[in-house]
Amino acid sequence: MPIEACHTISERLRQRFSTARSVFVLTGAGVSAESGVPTFRGGGKEGVWKGLPFSVISSAAMVERDLPAVWEWFDYRRDLLEKLKPNPAHDALARWQSRFENFTLVTQNIDGLHEAAGSNDVLELHGNIWRARCLECEKREDLRGCDNARPPVCQECGGAIRPDVVLFGEMLPPGVFEEAAERASQCDVCLVVGTSAIVYPAAALPEIARAAGAFVVEINPELTPLSAMCDEVIQGKAGEVLPLFEI
Ligand code: OAD
Repeated sequence: MPIEACHTISERLRQRFSTARSVFVLTGAGVSAESGVPTFRGGGKEGVWKGLPFSVISSAAMVERDLPAVWEWFDYRRDLLEKLKPNPAHDALARWQSRFENFTLVTQNIDGLHEAAGSNDVLELHGNIWRARCLECEKREDLRGCDNARPPVCQECGGAIRPDVVLFGEMLPPGVFEEAAERASQCDVCLVVGTSAIVYPAAALPEIARAAGAFVVEINPELTPLSAMCDEVIQGKAGEVLPLFEI
C-alpha cells in the first residue's frame, strides 16, 4: 500500500480517476474540519456540553427524558454552523457529481455543508441537523432560515418534534445504508475522506467497495483501521488534496 506523504496524486490514481465510470465517496467529520467544524475524536477525549457528555445529550434516552434540553443543544450547534462555509473539499465533491456517469456521495456528517456547496442527492447516513422530524407522524420540517425560531410542534399534526439526526443508541434511517451499500458494490473508484472509519455500519462501505473490486483511496492526515486495505492512502487534508484530483 503506497502512502503519499506529500500531497501528490500518483499517475496510477490519476488514470483510475479520470477513466472511472462510477465513483463513490464516503465522507466523515474530517471533510468539514477545514470549515471549522470540530471532529468527534479530534480532541482525544469526549466532549461535554453543560456538564453532559455528548453521548448523553445526543442520545435516544435523552429525547425521552428531556427533549427541550436536546433541542437546546441542537439549537446551539445550528447557531454555530450557520456561520460556517463549505471548504474546497466540499466544493470539489460538488463539481464531481456532473463529471462521472455515476457519482455517489455518502456522508456521516449532519452539518449540511455538502448541500451548501451544491451537492445534490447526498446519502445522509446520520441525518441532517437542519431538519426536524415529528415524533408522531414522522413529517420532516426544514429548519434552514428559521433561525432558532423553529416551530414548537409539528405543523401537520401538532405532535412533538425532534432533530432529524441519528442519536446514540439509534438505528440509521431505514433504507439509506442499503442504498449506499448497493452503490458501493458497483463503483470503480471509492474515496474515503476524513473519517476515523471506526463507526459501523458506515465503515463497512469501503470494505464492500473493495470486495467488489473497486480501487479504494483514503484521504486523511492520520492512518485509520481502513488504511491497510486501501490501494492508496494520501495523508493530507481533504481541502488540500481533493482539488488536486482535478489538475
Ligand atoms: P471522527 O471524529 O471519528 O474522525 C474524523 C477523522 O477526520 C479523523 O480520522 C481525522 O484524522 C480526520 N481529519 C481531521 N482533519 C481532517 C482534514 N482536514 N481532512 C481530512 N481528514 C481529516 O469522525 P467520523 O469518522 O465522521 O456519528 O465519525 C463517525 C461518526 O462517529 C459520526 O458521524 C458520529 C460519531 O459518533 C453519529 O453522530 C451517529
